[in-house]
Amino acid sequence: MPVAVERDPAPRERRIRLLRDAVGSSAEAHERRLLAAARPALPLLLWLGQRARPIMRLPRLGWVTADPVIARRILNDGVHTTLLEEGGVGHLWAQVLGDWVLELFDGAGHVELRTRTKGLFTEATGAALVERAWSGILDRARARLDAGEIVDIAELSRTLVGGMVIELLGMPPADEAGCREVFAIGEELAATALGSTADTRLSGESIEHARSIVDRLTVGVPEGYRTAGEDTVLGRCRAMGLTLQQTRGLATLLMVAGTETAASAMGRLAALLVDSGEQQRLIADPSLAEGAVRETLRVASPAPLIGRAIAADHEIEGRKLRAGERVMILTWTANNTAGRFRIDRPYSPHHRQLWFGAGRHLCLGAPLARAELGAMLELLLGDGREIEIVRRTYGRRVLIPAYSELLVRKRG
Ligand code: HEM
Repeated sequence: MPVAVERDPAPRERRIRLLRDAVGSSAEAHERRLLAAARPALPLLLWLGQRARPIMRLPRLGWVTADPVIARRILNDGVHTTLLEEGGVGHLWAQVLGDWVLELFDGAGHVELRTRTKGLFTEATGAALVERAWSGILDRARARLDAGEIVDIAELSRTLVGGMVIELLGMPPADEAGCREVFAIGEELAATALGSTADTRLSGESIEHARSIVDRLTVGVPEGYRTAGEDTVLGRCRAMGLTLQQTRGLATLLMVAGTETAASAMGRLAALLVDSGEQQRLIADPSLAEGAVRETLRVASPAPLIGRAIAADHEIEGRKLRAGERVMILTWTANNTAGRFRIDRPYSPHHRQLWFGAGRHLCLGAPLARAELGAMLELLLGDGREIEIVRRTYGRRVLIPAYSELLVRKRG
C-alpha cells in the first residue's frame, strides 16, 4: 500500500523560517555565553526572572521583578524606594565619595541636580560630543576596515569611550593608548561594585582604592569648571549653576554610569547585527538605523539589573515589601520578553526605554549613548558593505557583560 506523504503547504517559507530561527538562536547563544562569562550566576538569575512576574522573593537577594510595568512603578516611586540605603547604588558610592553624595544621588539635592542638568545631554550635544571626541579615532578605524584589515571592535569601543571620558572630564588630550588607559582606570573603579548584587557594603581596602581612582580621574575637574568654555560639559555645568562639588559628583557619576555600559553596547551592536543576519536588512534599508540602535539596547540591556532599597513598607500586587529589604529589577529579562533582535521591531510602549531605567534616575546620558551607537553603526555598515566576525572572546568577571575581543573585517 502506498504511504501517504503529508505535503508541506509552504516548504520554502518554512525553510526560510527555520533558517531565520537558527540564525537568530546563534545571536541568543552568544548573548547567553557573554552573560555567563561576566558573572556565572547571571544567566540563571535572568532566566529565573522570567518567573518573577509580577514580583517574587529570592533567598539572599530579596525581591526581584522582570515585569516592565512593575519595574517602572518601582523606579518612579521615590517615596517607598531609595538608592541611598543598602541595596542601592548611592549607598555604594557614598562610602567612596563621602556622605555629601547622598544629597546628590537621591532626594531634594538630586531633584535639583536633574533639573539643572536637563539640557546637558541632548541629541544635538550628543552628536557634537561624538564628533569632537571621536572623529580622529573613527577615521583611522574606517581606513583600516576599508583597507581590508581586521579591527577589534571591543578594543575600539574601549578606546572611544576612554576618549569620551577625557572630553567629558576635561582631562588633557591623549593618544589612543592613553584613551584605553583612562577606560581601564574607569573599569577598575566600576569593579568596586562587583559582588554588590547581594550586598552594597564595601571593605575599607576597596573604599581606599576607589577613592584614589576617583581623585586621579577627576583631577582636571576644578580647572575645567573654572575655565572651560560653555561648549564643554564642565563649562555647561558652571553655566547651569552647579557648584564645583556638584560638578565633581556628576563627573564621577558620568564615569561610572557611562563607560562600561556604552562600550558593551557598541561591541554587542556589531555582534548582534552579524549573528542575527540583520545587517543585510539594514544595508538594504538604512532608514532602519534608529531601530537597530534601539533593538541593540533592548536585547543587550547593558545594565542588566537595577537595585533599590525599600525605604518604607508598601504593597505591590498583594506582596508586602518592608523597609530595609531590597528589590532588584531584572531589566535584561524584562526587555527580552519582547522577542528576538529585529531591527524593524516597532517601538514598544510597554517597555519604553527600560534599558535606560525610568523615573527620576532615568539615564542622564541616554542621548549621548544613542549618538555613540549611531556613530559605531555608521562605521560598521555606512559604506553599504557587510562585516564578518573573525574571532570573539567574552569578558570574564566584569560588572557589565561585554566582549573583551571582537575581531571584524569587511566581507568580500
Ligand atoms: C548603552 C549605554 C548606557 C546604558 C545602557 C545606561 C543605562 C543606565 C541606567 C539603567 C541607569 C539607571 C540606573 C538606576 O536607576 O539606578 C543609568 C543612569 C545614569 N546614566 Fe546611563 N547608561 C548608558 C550610557 C550612559 C552614558 C554615555 C552616560 C553619560 C556619559 C550615562 C550617564 C548616566 C547617569 C549620570 C546616570 C544617573 C542618573 C541619575 O541617577 O539621576 N549613561 N544609565
